[in-house]
Amino acid sequence: MSSSSRMPSEYARRADSDLIDAIRKTKDRLGGEAAILGHHYQREAIVDLSDFVGDSFKLCRDAAQAAARHIVFCGVRFMAESARVVARPEQTVQHPDVSAGCPMANMAFIVQVEEIWKVLAERLAGRRIVPVTYMNSSVELKAFCGRSGGVVCTSSNASRVFDWAYSRGDVVFFFPDEHLGRNTGNARGTDPARIRVWDPMQGEAQAGDPSMAGAELILWKGFCHVHTFFTVDHVRRAREAHPDAFVIVHPECTEDVVRAADAAGSTEAIVRAVSEASPGAVIVIGTETHLVSRLANTHPDKTVLPLARSVCPNMQRITLANLLWSLENIGEYNIVEVEEEVARDARVALERMLQLA
Ligand code: 13P
Ligand code: SF4
Repeated sequence: MSSSSRMPSEYARRADSDLIDAIRKTKDRLGGEAAILGHHYQREAIVDLSDFVGDSFKLCRDAAQAAARHIVFCGVRFMAESARVVARPEQTVQHPDVSAGCPMANMAFIVQVEEIWKVLAERLAGRRIVPVTYMNSSVELKAFCGRSGGVVCTSSNASRVFDWAYSRGDVVFFFPDEHLGRNTGNARGTDPARIRVWDPMQGEAQAGDPSMAGAELILWKGFCHVHTFFTVDHVRRAREAHPDAFVIVHPECTEDVVRAADAAGSTEAIVRAVSEASPGAVIVIGTETHLVSRLANTHPDKTVLPLARSVCPNMQRITLANLLWSLENIGEYNIVEVEEEVARDARVALERMLQLA
């Protein structure tokens, strides 16, 4: 939840160079009072202006450790909410555009998850179910996991978090990304016959499916449109054009794309793979295009190419204009707020994840 205010239109009419200059001056004026956290999918200029840059896991940890009184979060809502939950109460977390949400995070609602949880508990009586929510979810789902013996994971620690979950139970119920869940299950060697998909559109009838009783991993049928856009054909064409290419994709891609690639990893892992590659290497990347073009610009000694061009429009709602507006009105507008009871339970699940990493 955030209180939303509208940015005056004159900000949007200013040239980028003028905005960058004004952001730098405002940052100088604020000194250590404000910290800008920027996700890897932000525009290059915003990444350059950020004090902390990273994947969703790193930025959550940065928010938990930030000394600044004000955090300005350049990313999507679930990231800003998580920062609010782990930051100190006296800190503010500001989101330059509160309409920057994540469609996948909106594919699972707390009322649905709570209902299905009851149905599964009945159907799988005698087996311990551990709920695991992807970081890309509402704060209410994180709170549900916190109070139900569960945890949060990101794409950078999903395997480790699943290990933890299986050390405490027999079945992992993972939401909302079917693909990250399946790719993580595959990487851990889960028998595919024991992976079931829960389609929230089909309702309770699925619980009667006899195979549900033997499930080890139940996956919510949610997806990221930016990553399911990539196909095996894209990988095939990339390999035809660049036979020596190393193909790395984000684990929100479908299982067949992950299998066709050479590696899968979080945005931070992709950044690391490019910086560790030898000069002259060709790296083809299946993730949001702003990260790929920034990596190409920052590694001119390597050939860095997109598997295909795929944009997350929500990430791009954060602009130089609304970043400047936020900094000039630090602690005033678009402050992220989470109800204390929800924050308390969500903190349990997020801190479990932070401790596991
Ligand atoms: P990371 O956890 O790799 O930063 O990914 C977040 C995300 O939204 C990917 O689509
Ligand atoms: Fe959500 Fe996909 Fe955008 Fe990531 S890239 S924020 S998962 S829509």
